[in-house]
Amino acid sequence: MSNKNKKYTITSALPYANGALHLGHFAGAYLPGDVYARFLRLMGADVAYVCGSDEHGASITIRAKKEGISPKDIIDKYHELNKSSFMKFGMSFDIYHRTSEKLHYETAQEFFLTLDKKGEEFDIIESEQYYDEEFDQFLADRYIKGTCPKCSYEEAYGDQCENCGSDLSPMELINPLSTLSEKEPILRKTKHWYFKLDKHAEWLKEWIENGIVDGVKTHNPKDWKTHVRNQCLAWVDDLKPRAITRDLNWGIPVPLDNAEGKVFYVWFDAPIGYISATKQWAADNGKDWEEYWKGENSKLIHFVGKDNIVFHCVIFPAMMKAHGGYNLPINVPANQFLNFEGKKFSKSRSWGIELHQYLEDFKDFPNKEDAMRYALIRNMPENKDADFKWDEFVEFHDNELVNNLGNFINRVLVLSNKYYEGNVPAHSGNWTTEVKELSVLVEEMKSDLLDFKFRPAIIKFMEISSFGNTYLQDKSPWSIYKTDPESQEVKDILFVCIQMVSLLAVLIEPFLPFTSDKINTLLSKEKVKAGDFELLQSKLKDGEAFIKAGHKLDKPSLLFSKIGDPKDTSRLELVNMQKAHLAAVLEAERPKQEAIKETISYDDFIKMDIRTGTILEAEKVPKTDKLIKLIVDIGLEKRTVVSGIAEHYKAEEIVGQEVLLLANLAPRKLKGIESQGMILMAENESGVLCFASSSKKFGNGWVVR
Ligand code: MF3
Ligand code: ZN
Repeated sequence: MSNKNKKYTITSALPYANGALHLGHFAGAYLPGDVYARFLRLMGADVAYVCGSDEHGASITIRAKKEGISPKDIIDKYHELNKSSFMKFGMSFDIYHRTSEKLHYETAQEFFLTLDKKGEEFDIIESEQYYDEEFDQFLADRYIKGTCPKCSYEEAYGDQCENCGSDLSPMELINPLSTLSEKEPILRKTKHWYFKLDKHAEWLKEWIENGIVDGVKTHNPKDWKTHVRNQCLAWVDDLKPRAITRDLNWGIPVPLDNAEGKVFYVWFDAPIGYISATKQWAADNGKDWEEYWKGENSKLIHFVGKDNIVFHCVIFPAMMKAHGGYNLPINVPANQFLNFEGKKFSKSRSWGIELHQYLEDFKDFPNKEDAMRYALIRNMPENKDADFKWDEFVEFHDNELVNNLGNFINRVLVLSNKYYEGNVPAHSGNWTTEVKELSVLVEEMKSDLLDFKFRPAIIKFMEISSFGNTYLQDKSPWSIYKTDPESQEVKDILFVCIQMVSLLAVLIEPFLPFTSDKINTLLSKEKVKAGDFELLQSKLKDGEAFIKAGHKLDKPSLLFSKIGDPKDTSRLELVNMQKAHLAAVLEAERPKQEAIKETISYDDFIKMDIRTGTILEAEKVPKTDKLIKLIVDIGLEKRTVVSGIAEHYKAEEIVGQEVLLLANLAPRKLKGIESQGMILMAENESGVLCFASSSKKFGNGWVVR
């Protein structure tokens, strides 16, 4: 079958339209989808790559309520913001749809009605649920907090305790509180539609374990990432009916007479959003959406972050199977998380950077989009969590993109211009030797891409570029040219190098589309288009040229400029500003130190008799939080000292500690114990109380003067 008849429906998780996307989201579910979709198009496949805004859910209504605006204000704002960031970063969605569109309402309602008509997919269950009287609404699980019944952590949520990790239900929380009004919620009766997920356990298990559904092999389970499969297997063993309706005034109404006031749970309608997006795209482009979702030759692939795995591998497949007629995903190559400079992304702590902010902060850096795409793909959290670091961002850019790729292309163009005025020279024979080696590398890169191994694939791409650099360096055409400007060998070498530059322009397109365009501009060639990878492979096979002799190249100009260029620090300053911001966040989070006290005279100071000593015994003073009773050996004698350090140190861990003791402080009684002196302590910069002591042992009882 030619690639043209192979259809792919590719989805990236629909982002909630109530916040801006950050680099972690981008690396998790969007960039990999884009690289994959772009590569398939280059292979000549028929691709529908869909995404859009997820615009329902309690979090949107709650945010609207808190800010005194309507949910629509929020979704309109963030839909536009996220969409425009994606477009600026070169995301190649065929459509970026919205779940607030009428077409989506209809699609989701129809989907539900089909399931409902089967008569056995839903149970209607009445139960008591928490209700916030002040806010006049039932409370979604995570809007209830209280004490965890398992570990007693007081800030546990109604769905999960973040301290001990247990899954909870709101009813299990001790002393529940509404996070909206901070008041105790009441219980109210309500009914909901439950999707009988447990009913689907058996086939789901067979499908996830063996890739077989209804006796047909749909995929090779070994193609799925281990962490994805493991998460799914853990889930299918414990499937329970799940409520797919909510009592909210924001969402898609449940289209039944006996369901007044009910809307679909956001996770019921959102994945159906992929289908409505495809419908809209098909309608706009004269296509048949069903071929993409139901066709025999169509493959469905979901790109998501690891927190979305079960929805895409268990729940949505069960919904589609229950509905009937839909293809199940052949893979869900979920990524793990990306951290930011060693910590989790956190909006409230201002840790991390959002896409629009990055684009704004780096607006004077011409290569900002591809520089970031490169850094994120190069360090993609494919099988384990990864960490974004600004220093690495600079290194990847300068050492790999500029020194390797940019350098090679620039040298080839400069030499071609200098020797032949930019006219591609003719080769005297053929370039089969180089072609063989290149073909192997290209095949390896292709197979990495098709296996969703984007990080290895981009590293392979750089190897191909290195191959060009090494080739040029080994052949050193400049030394031949010096003595023989007419040399055919020099022409052969540059012919091969120009072909390699043209090859690189195609291969880099899925990763760095802007760079691909720039390289083709330098070559005076058109942009890469669908099917070009296929074409390139067949040309490679026949040793055919990508660019014919006589073709005139554009004038050479630099593809990239180093961020760390000592002669022009403007780009490095942008990075340094980011680092300075992070340093300021850390600084602001540091506990404040007290101001230095009033000056004292030398005469005051010298009155103090400070001795070094060692703690011989330590025991917590009963019925106090802070006090520890110490026996301190100062050589001359042993002193009993009561010290207020129990919140910082355990009694048993300080025995043997060297200390400085103020030995002539008037004794005083604390909790009935006479304290004969004071241990000198000082607060360090992070607010921890430290022993003031000499680290060297000079012997006990020395007077400090
Ligand atoms: N909005 C969800 C999130 O950001 C993802 C929804 S994916 C979909 O986590 F399948 F439901 F669309
Ligand atoms: Zn707990």
